[in-house]
Amino acid sequence: MSGDRGGKAWVRPVRLWCGLILFGYLITHFSNHTLGLISLKTMEAGRIWFLALWRNPIGETALFGALLVHWWLGLWLIYRRRTLRMPAWEAVQIVFGVCVPPLLAYHLVGTRVANAMYGTLDLYTRTLLGYFVTDYWGGARQTALFSLAWAHGCIGIHFWLRFRSWYPRAFPLLLTLFVLLPVVAALGVSQAGREVIALAQDPGFAKRLLAETRAPQGAQRAELQQIRDALFWGTWALLALTLAARAVRDRLTRRSMIGIRHTDGPEVRVPLGWTVLEASRSAGIPHASVCGGRGRCSTCRIRVAGDPTLLPPASPLERRVLNRVGAPPNVRLACQLRPDRDVLVTRLVAPSISAHAVQALSARSGQEREIAVLFADLRGFTRIAEKKLPYDVVFILNRYFEAVGSAVAEAGGLANQYTGDGVMALFGIETEPGPACRQALMAAAAMITRVEELGRGLGQELGSPLRIGIGIHAGPVVVGEMGYGETRYLTAVGDTVNTASRLEGLTKEHDCELVVSEQVFARAGLDSSGYPGAELSLRNREATLRVLLVKDARRLAERIAALSSRSPGPGDPSSGSIQATEASPPLRA
Ligand code: FES
Repeated sequence: MSGDRGGKAWVRPVRLWCGLILFGYLITHFSNHTLGLISLKTMEAGRIWFLALWRNPIGETALFGALLVHWWLGLWLIYRRRTLRMPAWEAVQIVFGVCVPPLLAYHLVGTRVANAMYGTLDLYTRTLLGYFVTDYWGGARQTALFSLAWAHGCIGIHFWLRFRSWYPRAFPLLLTLFVLLPVVAALGVSQAGREVIALAQDPGFAKRLLAETRAPQGAQRAELQQIRDALFWGTWALLALTLAARAVRDRLTRRSMIGIRHTDGPEVRVPLGWTVLEASRSAGIPHASVCGGRGRCSTCRIRVAGDPTLLPPASPLERRVLNRVGAPPNVRLACQLRPDRDVLVTRLVAPSISAHAVQALSARSGQEREIAVLFADLRGFTRIAEKKLPYDVVFILNRYFEAVGSAVAEAGGLANQYTGDGVMALFGIETEPGPACRQALMAAAAMITRVEELGRGLGQELGSPLRIGIGIHAGPVVVGEMGYGETRYLTAVGDTVNTASRLEGLTKEHDCELVVSEQVFARAGLDSSGYPGAELSLRNREATLRVLLVKDARRLAERIAALSSRSPGPGDPSSGSIQATEASPPLRA
């Protein structure tokens, strides 16, 4: 996890691209090995193409440059980590990654370095003679090197791509290829190895081959061994130095500690400079972090109590992700925020959220989903605005958007459009329709409360109390990132959206706080009896839509919260969790 700021934001992308070059090298290497299934001769012929691709000034610069940069940046990221507690997949990837350079020292010196220093031909026949006849340990080491490097790369690619909308569909094919290629390559090597074993039955074969390939002898061998040992121990030494540097830094920074208190958990005291996610991990507090703290998924987001302007500003990376989810100023990414004072935070996403839910959130290409859509509008604000200076209008509107935006985010929704004095919010991007409808109803009540509080706070400034009307409808929509250039954001289109907007308009006509379609009540598992209703005719439809008129949204929310608290769990909308269960019994509100 980096929490990279400013100039450090390039670290992960550069490391990724270097990793991709190395992965490409492995793919071509394995492809060459598969030719062994045809014959040793074909494998040697494939090697000529392999060397043409990689053993030239451009190929070698790219390959060795990528190797060095990938490794150094990996050490840098290990140094930057404040805690070594991490999810298992991340630990496996790091351990495999740090084992590769020392193992590679043997292969590199035996092939490319020997070739450069003594003109040794690193034919497959010579290499396989070693692995299958004279140096079994060498064969085992090479197998370990390929396996660890391949697994390290596959994990990296999986966690890089898994937020892409096409990835779940492509995953079975990619998994098959990622498993099949090394297996077929290993079969190719073992088939070619058998040929070499057969050739080695001839007593003079090994001697002739070593002479023909100019294999290093005597002092040459000793010199290569020295280089190899220096590389082997040097890579381990650099890793040890990195860990020692971490320990020293931690010791020094422990002098200035800060407290990170969770509203629903303990206070963690950590040295200055730790991210909130690092603090959670070090204390064993479950915290969603689907992308592993890389600032890509937004699942680690937290609400920070108090004045958000006192926090360190968000980096461009963090700002981009927060904008994407329409987060208000007091919502930040736990993996990126490094508080410089004591803070009180609330986790906004259930720790068990899956990458699948995150994909839904970042549905760039458009997906059909069943969600709840909420529209809210400030009553009589045009009249208020007419008597105000433009600066005052902007000030009041921004306070209003902050109040309603935070209410939506805390309930688990996404306030994605602010137009004039209106707000549109989506619920169900990351959860099922039932919990989404409950979240929307809870958000509506919180929005009404906060707007009232805001109105009281502004008092005489306004001349009249602030009131909003809210409409909520649920149904199918197309969700996707829309817009142009920099102003792209996640939104929804479809009849459901238009209908929700019309329901908001009905609140004026019926003088109530909330107008909700019967579908929302049904999906939320609520009993609608006792609420006055009305029939809404829909454009291009014969059937009418039954809507419910809610005079007191907070009373409805109280009942949802009270009933949900009887069976608390991840689906409790009052917990601010975005994961909820559909299996709850109907609520009688
Ligand atoms: S863990 Fe993914 S953005 Fe923070």
